[in-house]
Amino acid sequence: MKIISTPIELKEYFKNSNKTLGFVPTMGALHEGHITLIKEARKANEIVVVSIFVNPTQFLKGEDLDKYPRKDDADKKICELSGVDVLFLPEAASIYSDDEVSILAPKVRGFVLEGFSRPGHFNGVLTVVMKLLNIVNPTRAYFGKKDAQQLNLISLMVKQFFMSVEVIGVDTVRENDGLALSSRNIYLTVKERQEALKISASLQCAAKMLTQKIVNSQVIIQKMREHLAPLEIFYVEILNRDFEIIKEVELANSIILVEVKVGKTRLIDNIWL
Ligand code: PAJ
Repeated sequence: MKIISTPIELKEYFKNSNKTLGFVPTMGALHEGHITLIKEARKANEIVVVSIFVNPTQFLKGEDLDKYPRKDDADKKICELSGVDVLFLPEAASIYSDDEVSILAPKVRGFVLEGFSRPGHFNGVLTVVMKLLNIVNPTRAYFGKKDAQQLNLISLMVKQFFMSVEVIGVDTVRENDGLALSSRNIYLTVKERQEALKISASLQCAAKMLTQKIVNSQVIIQKMREHLAPLEIFYVEILNRDFEIIKEVELANSIILVEVKVGKTRLIDNIWL
């Protein structure tokens, strides 16, 4: 596995390559969720590139940028064992400069849900993803459906800016007890981790209601809120795949999304129906 730390070097490395390239952007502290994205990339492409970059511009003031988990050695090993060809580990100084052109998230879809609780977060995400895609120039880029709004906004950016990469969404990987894997789960105490199971339980409850032909969004949301209590709820929302609020669940076109705070940790989860 080749490790590259500057955009110039990475562009140079692939200058004459005409191989298909699968790209998995990450912020490190890799877990089975990330590994699944890497495996998907491995299956469909000749070359796999993973980036690890804790992107400062997507953290709001007071968020966990400084204490975001960093596990460089373990991450390198995981990438090596997962068959990654190139690991891109840039420093912030090689990605950002003092006076930057701005990429802004759309005013509606970028500022609802997680974008409402973290205003400006998706400006940072889209900016860094645009930069990384331009540096790596992949055939396909892989993102988790767990971050549904992120995936939606990146797909929108790629479409609206006429970029040629294919964006692939990958199903959420969970612990055996249902908790969606996240680099932030390590912040949870044993007790909080137990409390966090309410999130996947509330989504399972919604899925069960659908099997009972209950499709009214408000009825489902109310039941989910009861399941989540007493956690602090940022939102429970039912949207279609275009991220518009819907009054009734449409099978094969809906996403139920949850954001809650468990202790001091903000967790998101969702199911795609
Ligand atoms: P990070 O949180 O490290 O996640 C990297 C990728 O892994 C994202 O596409 C995310 O959706 C996916 N992922 C995380 N947990 C997952 C799970 N349990 N199952 C499946 N996929 C999962 O998301 C980011 O980094 C950043 O915002 C980034 C896109 C790299 C831009 O900085």
